[in-house]
Amino acid sequence: MGEIIPLKYKSLEGLSERQLKEHHDVLYAGYVKKVDEIRNALHAASKDNVNTTYADLRELKLELSFALNGVKLHEAYFANMGGNGKATGDILNLIELDWGSFEEWQRNLKASAMGARGWVVTAYDLDDNRLHNFSCDAHNQGNIWNAIALVILDVYEHAYFIDYGTDRKSYLESFMKNLDFDYVNRKIKDFDLMQRRSQFKAA
Ligand SMILES: [Fe+2]
Repeated sequence: MGEIIPLKYKSLEGLSERQLKEHHDVLYAGYVKKVDEIRNALHAASKDNVNTTYADLRELKLELSFALNGVKLHEAYFANMGGNGKATGDILNLIELDWGSFEEWQRNLKASAMGARGWVVTAYDLDDNRLHNFSCDAHNQGNIWNAIALVILDVYEHAYFIDYGTDRKSYLESFMKNLDFDYVNRKIKDFDLMQRRSQFKAA
């Protein structure tokens, strides 16, 4: 049984308790339950005569990629909020290396967020050893492999509609104010990305 990770806050500056509760307790929790359901069904699904037009196994595999990415992305999204929005340390260094300034990264992130239907992710690509802002139209569409997701921004309407209606720009301001860069920096340490980046530069 998948674990539902609790929210570490009730409300945030610009994001109400109701908005966060609907998003976390209903939508995210729903993905956790569906992952279990799909995995059980996959275990039982026939492994014979599978084909690319229709087979239970094929459909379940596709839906697993949607539900499981839905779990992973939401857990990282909720975890990377609750901070003070001030970028410091390793993440600031990486942003300045790859975008020149924090402002330029933020401009790129916000523009990407205005054009994406699902998610924008600032990720460290382990192949070119740089940060990128990747856009996804759904949990399982647009993801880039072999990259460490550092900043995760949900731009589905359900993430902000209760508080902002169609005003995505104001939601983005609120997201930036609540970003927890300490959490992002812990991830950079966990994956030893600064060491990796310095080796890459030296190569
Ligand atoms: Fe969401």
